[in-house]
Amino acid sequence: MEDLPVMDVGAIRFLASPDGQALLRDLPPYDEAAALPLSDRLRTRGIAPEHVAALLTQQRLRARARAKFGQFADGLLFTADGLEQASRLEVATTHAHRFAALSLATVHDLGCGIGADAITMSVLGITVAAVDIDPLTAAVADANLRPWPDSRARVGRAEEFVAPVDAMRSRIGAWLDPARRVPGVADARGRSRRIYRLEDMSPSWTTVRAIAAAVPATGVKLSPSFPHDHVPAGAEAQWTSWDGTVLECAVWFGPLARRSGRSARVLGPGRDPIEVDESMAQPDPPAASSLADVGLWLHEADRAVLRAGLIGAVTGAVDGVEVDPGLGYVLTSSSASVPFARRYAVHEAMPFSVKSLRGWLRARGITGLTIKKRGVRLDEDQLRRSLKVGRGAGDGEQATVVLTRVAGQQVALVVSADNAP
Ligand SMILES: C[S@@+](CC[C@H](N)C(=O)[O-])C[C@H]1O[C@@H](n2cnc3c(N)ncnc32)[C@H](O)[C@@H]1O
Repeated sequence: MEDLPVMDVGAIRFLASPDGQALLRDLPPYDEAAALPLSDRLRTRGIAPEHVAALLTQQRLRARARAKFGQFADGLLFTADGLEQASRLEVATTHAHRFAALSLATVHDLGCGIGADAITMSVLGITVAAVDIDPLTAAVADANLRPWPDSRARVGRAEEFVAPVDAMRSRIGAWLDPARRVPGVADARGRSRRIYRLEDMSPSWTTVRAIAAAVPATGVKLSPSFPHDHVPAGAEAQWTSWDGTVLECAVWFGPLARRSGRSARVLGPGRDPIEVDESMAQPDPPAASSLADVGLWLHEADRAVLRAGLIGAVTGAVDGVEVDPGLGYVLTSSSASVPFARRYAVHEAMPFSVKSLRGWLRARGITGLTIKKRGVRLDEDQLRRSLKVGRGAGDGEQATVVLTRVAGQQVALVVSADNAP
């Protein structure tokens, strides 16, 4: 992760003060080239160097936060780790609506981060009692919750949470979003390193289950890799995607579950949410038995649907077969379509070899190729060199090819996008 000056609780108090807020409001949009002269200008106005550093760090984090929070980023404070781990606004709103529907008195957010979920719950009129193990993060969340005086964040550990004897009668709920990253330890892409084992997250799955046993209205956000066989009896595990990327699997216990078992929620800019559940899916989706099963259409299931194990909702709705189990491409000749899969018209289907595909492309003067692949391992750059095609059309034609497996055999399907889900 790139180096940003480390902030302390004092810096957050300054940023949350009327003076700090006024200075933040007056800052121009973040521009790396202008950072040094801006820093000099603030210092010559008599602002302490550590406060100048805190202001510029926030200016930078707010610019980055716009991707998750849009214009609301300009009213929030962030830490770099807190921003990276925060639920994006549209997904946090999805969480908050589940709690709001139950008219709870208080929701305990046990590991609140910078407060994205706590804020969206507060917006919907829920009183949030939030804790975070990290003092700086708790201070940021508390500052972010200031517009809702009943909601507060303080330093605390989820493990220390004591539920009232009758949580339902007390009308309380619990929300957990366990840390799945090791703060300060970067992976190859510069993001903090991920944790995959349920017991290694903080708080652990055991703690989450204990809290869910004491507080029926409990929800928890987990990694999209949450194993299907860990879905607790009676709970709902919902995989959510945003614009085609799966962001999380949230497990909803007790009255927060809208159905038991697995479901998927497909979200994206400018579109209504779509929900898919087990009742809509064929339990044993059929798979192709040979290349002859390739029909007129290929449906690419949204990845949340695939992760939730609900490809049977696509095969059932379009009367199709999956190319190979688990790959999420469905073949059919029926004209039906579903809003949770992208449909492609299939123009050609051939067993995949570089030589035959190169010949096919050359015969049609195709020089620009979009390559999609699932279930085949190959280096795309190397393949492009072997096929002698670029990404753009250049002087020639464009095509899209899907490289996948049909009934265990590697195939190339030449397709064109038909609809956007
Ligand atoms: C994934 S973040 C929460 C993000 C938050 N839901 C949001 O949208 O902004 C997890 C947070 O849990 C905190 N945490 C980790 N272990 C904890 C524990 N045992 N008790 C309380 N907080 C903890 C971390 O400091 C981190 O800020």
